Amino acid sequence: MSSESEAQSLTAQFRKRTSVDWEGGVRFYEYTSAANPQLNAMPFAVFPSSLHRSGETRVIPFDLSDKLGMSWPATSPNLMASFLRINAKETLDTQASATSQLFYVINGSGKSTASFGSIDWSQGDLFVLPMGVEVDHKATADAALYWVHDEPLLTYLGVQPGVPRFKPTLFRRERMIAELEAIRCQPGAADRNRMGILLGNEATPQTMTITHMLWSLLNILPANKAQKPHRHNSVALDLCVSAEPSGVYTLMGPDLNADGTVKNPIRAEWESGTVFTTPPGWWHSHHNDTGRDALVLPIQDAGLHTWMRTLDIRFVL
Ligand SMILES: [Fe+2]
Repeated sequence: MSSESEAQSLTAQFRKRTSVDWEGGVRFYEYTSAANPQLNAMPFAVFPSSLHRSGETRVIPFDLSDKLGMSWPATSPNLMASFLRINAKETLDTQASATSQLFYVINGSGKSTASFGSIDWSQGDLFVLPMGVEVDHKATADAALYWVHDEPLLTYLGVQPGVPRFKPTLFRRERMIAELEAIRCQPGAADRNRMGILLGNEATPQTMTITHMLWSLLNILPANKAQKPHRHNSVALDLCVSAEPSGVYTLMGPDLNADGTVKNPIRAEWESGTVFTTPPGWWHSHHNDTGRDALVLPIQDAGLHTWMRTLDIRFVL
């Protein structure tokens, strides 16, 4: 039975107020054998840019629900990521029952309209919308967008958003690049664990995240540099914004070697317009063996983790 039909069945039972089998759902588990249930692990996965480079106007979902053991679409337990491919002069409607929706313009230009109004966008712009609004996207030139929202968490909880927790917020490419350049010029910037700007929002002064749920960083990986490992309990869904075709990559795995490098790592290649997942708790380092800077945009559920005090971010010094 799908989660939707399960929910409908339970809702119907509740509303009819018929006789309920109060004890039928009871289960007992011996503590030591059940205290740490083994849920399906968050997988490493790659969603190549070829998915959005051509074809008809459409939503291209990254659905890992089978691997996660979930009965509704999801890229991670809390988040759903997709590409939007919108051909010039065509429109695409998107809708999600979410508290936070993030859109990043991989390429192209156009306009998105929702109940909040309209936003004109072009390559490199990013915007976030609260609640599960329907959004109508129209491309003026062939466009691809990266779309991440938290509908899987709301489906798990069996809730729908009721109150917007932040205002629609637009991050223009020019402003983000200017902020990145300012950080790059700071003494010692190239030797930091990451060199980038955390995208913040006036609505989240405590978590300092792009929404109360989502977290995002625009991170420069300088030419011929590596960024040492770190780990956190949030899932990362990284969009490679720009990189040379080969020689830029992330090494990730659950453990470290004695010298602080990632033990027996998986290697995720950075290809412009490609997304890869980083499972929660895995150490990950970034490497650029080319002569050109690279740029990556990870999206995480770290707004929620930070609020819950469970992010547990740790760095190799
Ligand atoms: Fe990270």
